[in-house]
Amino acid sequence: MDGVDLVTGAFGNAGSAIAAQLGEQGRAVRTLTTRSPEGGEPTDIEVRPLDWDDATALKDAFDGVETFYNTYWMRLGDRHGSYDLAVQRCFQLIEAAESAGVERIVHVSIAHASHRSAYPYFRAKAKVEERLELSDVPTLVVRPTLLFGGQSVLLNNLAWALRKLPVFAVAGRGDYRVRPIHVDDLARLCVLGPHLDDEPEVHVDRLIDASPHLVVDAVGPDRPTYMDLVREIRHATGSRVLIVRTPTPAVLAGSRLIGALVRDQVLDRDELVSTVKGLADTEGPPTGSTSLLGWIRDHAGDLGHHYHNERTSRPVPAGEST
Ligand SMILES: NC(=O)c1ccc[n+]([C@@H]2O[C@H](COP(=O)([O-])OP(=O)(O)OC[C@H]3O[C@@H](n4cnc5c(N)ncnc54)[C@H](OP(=O)(O)O)[C@@H]3O)[C@@H](O)[C@H]2O)c1
Repeated sequence: MDGVDLVTGAFGNAGSAIAAQLGEQGRAVRTLTTRSPEGGEPTDIEVRPLDWDDATALKDAFDGVETFYNTYWMRLGDRHGSYDLAVQRCFQLIEAAESAGVERIVHVSIAHASHRSAYPYFRAKAKVEERLELSDVPTLVVRPTLLFGGQSVLLNNLAWALRKLPVFAVAGRGDYRVRPIHVDDLARLCVLGPHLDDEPEVHVDRLIDASPHLVVDAVGPDRPTYMDLVREIRHATGSRVLIVRTPTPAVLAGSRLIGALVRDQVLDRDELVSTVKGLADTEGPPTGSTSLLGWIRDHAGDLGHHYHNERTSRPVPAGEST
């Protein structure tokens, strides 16, 4: 093995893709987690239990680590819907990594993270980005819009709804664009790290010239409107559902009803409204190469036969939500 990296979420979605690519490069991967590998399968990943109250164990977990890949986040916030805990925990991880002397931190954020955002999720992500900009350790912030492939549930659950429902409601006009990136393309950007600068097709930002803090949007080559995405999945899965344009509150009410049936929070209000406002899209060139629409056609046979419930797929420690 060439060296050790620590990946949070190494059994999750983005983190497992990052861990796999690091493994292919001969790197040893360590993780800090509250869960065990899928089905208790043997794994090459060294597992350290995540105990937020044990600062020493947290720092020790970074012993000998060269790069810290942070995918840690709570998609729906804590049990009150606040992101303060997720931000605080990211700070704890960053501080532990810094004091253990890691050489680089790669952090998965979100496109359009901003202190001025109307949405708490995006403001919270901006706080973590700001913390990284103040770090003495070189950092790379990778900002996806949405993810597909790997363990991502979004397209599967869209396909499930299109297969099961007689009518599918699209919020607003459906003319806002979405630009997901394949999770393996996201992982490639993360693992390239400082070498991203050598990739001619990837646009990397620096806050100031020669700054060791890099930022890159993680977006795929396809940017369909949401309506076209839904139509593409309907066509690929052979669904005959009727698609109707509906005011956003009605879509949310419908999703709450479905959520009660599948025991999941199917849609988060801010996720939906921010998408309608265009925040799941970016201008700028693609930084991932996998075609979303091609992937849907290739995977149509597997998509949407079962609902994938994120809420029940991980243990929920006290004080957290899923
Ligand atoms: N998925 C998307 O479409 C999308 C879009 C834009 C940005 N992102 C960003 O990409 C990053 C990775 O996303 P992902 O989909 O790969 O995430 P994920 O697999 O669900 O989780 C990644 C990490 O967050 C922890 N985590 C997840 N839910 C949690 C909860 N409710 N309470 C406590 N810890 C929780 C996991 O801990 P354990 O290891 O203990 O399970 C793991 O360390 C996140 O920062 C996310 O904001 C994702």
